[in-house]
Amino acid sequence: MSKPILILNGPNLNLLGTREPHIYGTTTLAQVEEMCRRRAERRGLAIAFHQSNSEEKLIGWIHDAIDGADGIIINPAAFTHTSIAILDAIKASGVPTVEVHLSNPDAREAFRHRSRIARVCLARVAGFGPRSYVLGLIGLVKHLREKSAP
Ligand code: DQA
Repeated sequence: MSKPILILNGPNLNLLGTREPHIYGTTTLAQVEEMCRRRAERRGLAIAFHQSNSEEKLIGWIHDAIDGADGIIINPAAFTHTSIAILDAIKASGVPTVEVHLSNPDAREAFRHRSRIARVCLARVAGFGPRSYVLGLIGLVKHLREKSAP
């Protein structure tokens, strides 16, 4: 493994910390990034961390991962439930991807129960707040290291 792990965040996650804190907690996205960066550094890895409210930007970053990242952690936020374009981008990239969520969408409204991207992801971690990211990162790195072991 020589390339960074790409960590992507979809719409409204820039508001973490103040957005519906009873659901998403009070940790800001900058703090989530810091947690991921520290965890990755302990494993000798770099991360690239991005957020956008635009589907186009998220798709562009997934395309960039084809040559630029060893793996992807993605919280597509509401696009989880709607975006065939993000599904197609992950599939086309061929980059091992883990879906993460702060809340547990399966325990919420019915419209959050369907993930469009789950079928092209290696795994899904949901419901642990910011720790979902860290747990997803640990699992992804373990998977990548096992895959590249001689
Ligand atoms: C979310 C869950 C989604 O249903 C929601 O639209 C979000 C955040 C989560 O991290 O719990 O914006 O992805």
